[in-house]
Amino acid sequence: MSVTDPQPPTADTGADAAREALHDRISADSLTTRRDYLRIVATVSGGLAVGGVAVASGILHRHGDAEGATEVRKIADRIEPGESLAFRYPGDEDRAIALRMEDGTLAGYSAVCTHLACAVLWRKDRGSEGELYCPCHEGVFDARTGEVAAGPPPRGLPKVLLVEQADGSVWAVGTARSGESAVEGFCRQNGDDRPGCPGFGAGAPTGKPARRSERT
Ligand code: FES
Repeated sequence: MSVTDPQPPTADTGADAAREALHDRISADSLTTRRDYLRIVATVSGGLAVGGVAVASGILHRHGDAEGATEVRKIADRIEPGESLAFRYPGDEDRAIALRMEDGTLAGYSAVCTHLACAVLWRKDRGSEGELYCPCHEGVFDARTGEVAAGPPPRGLPKVLLVEQADGSVWAVGTARSGESAVEGFCRQNGDDRPGCPGFGAGAPTGKPARRSERT
């Protein structure tokens, strides 16, 4: 199922459909502009903050650095331009934020600042197209990429990979680490041998499940 399919996801098939939508998008990446891609895949955070070893050791694996496929979860029926949504992903304690910019771009990030783990907020009235802002030490992240725009954060926000279905519902389907692309994050978590991933066709074992083939 692709994001253009008119059939809305059911409770049983929605998660698979969302993951397949991202997979299809990655497979077709060579035909997709970066801007268009970002309408489907958003980033989020995870990253880590690291202002101290304790913070890093306790949070790192939960924000984009977890190994293995992550849960596919519906986070909203719809997100309109200018709106943002706070949610938890991939774990129940992992703060994340999804936002849609005025041009329709949908993006998702960890809402944990990579400086000292304060909560990152969406300020749509700041900058030319809004920004992700950490009030603790004036940290600023680019809303379109999650990269550091100002302040002390040592690295960009980890991404939360989002897929928008044809009915407008928004699903979280995985994470990407700071500095990692959505494709890299997806392939790491779902298997490097999937179409669109670097290991596709190489025949090398990846140690990760090829979920699509398991279902068919
Ligand atoms: Fe975010 Fe310091 S905790 S800038």
